[in-house]
Amino acid sequence: MTMSAQPQPEPVVKNVGPIILLGPPGAGKGTQAKRIAARYGIPQISTGDLLRDNVARGTPLGRRAKETMGRGELVSDDLVNQMVDYRLQDEDCARGFILDGYPRTLGQAEWLEDFLEHHGVAGHVCGRPLVMSITVGYNELLHRLSGRLSCPTCGRIYNVHSQPPRADKLCDVDGSALITRPDDREEVIAERLKSYERQTLPLVEFYKQRGELLELHGARPAEEVFAEALKAIEHKA
Ligand code: AP5
Repeated sequence: MTMSAQPQPEPVVKNVGPIILLGPPGAGKGTQAKRIAARYGIPQISTGDLLRDNVARGTPLGRRAKETMGRGELVSDDLVNQMVDYRLQDEDCARGFILDGYPRTLGQAEWLEDFLEHHGVAGHVCGRPLVMSITVGYNELLHRLSGRLSCPTCGRIYNVHSQPPRADKLCDVDGSALITRPDDREEVIAERLKSYERQTLPLVEFYKQRGELLELHGARPAEEVFAEALKAIEHKA
């Protein structure tokens, strides 16, 4: 279904605390994070987007991450934790924030737990996170990733199969030419899915044990997944 470019309703202003979106590549973390961010007027912190921005700008961090990302492997915990540490100092995180694609290893999860407990965010004490793990079967993930297009200007995500732009390969919002991510090639997708199984899947158990995990069945229309995510956020807030 094509998403409309109509103006979004005003954000709901309330404290929602940290939200973590877990899930394999293509599960819809970015898609849901953008909707939640717009709904509550809180930032989406996507470590993938932050890394891609550093790569595009050729920063020292981007130069260190580029090859690893190109192979579909995970960038080192130290680099990513440091990036998140900086970002969580920003005042716009005070009412809540959505971590999209972070944490992704047990080391990152433990670092984040310690950070939230002892440092707070933007100078404020921070509540426990709500962790939503989006599950989608392997073939559907491959299908989605092979059809993904993104806008390099506004970041909007499309899909040639399920969420095509109105005009061929042009963003509905700003008319930019849509791009395919370099890591959405078949051989890199396979490696990203392996990294997920090996390094990120154990986090489901980590958060389950803490009573903070909600599993979202992601192989449904994005609107349905969003509606269930909102219920959980409202219940916790
Ligand atoms: P990152 O950018 O985080 O990529 P990813 O985790 O592989 O996730 P994706 O962005 O591919 O998928 P998504 O779940 O956001 O799905 P989307 O909403 O786009 O990471 C990239 C790389 O950076 C990593 O490989 C690693 O190297 C590095 N990195 C990042 N974070 C790191 C960390 N913490 N530690 C170490 N390294 C890190 O949806 C996919 C497609 O499906 C879209 O076309 C969308 O339109 C469509 N779609 C979405 N929902 C639905 C639906 N319900 N029905 C039908 N289609 C849908």
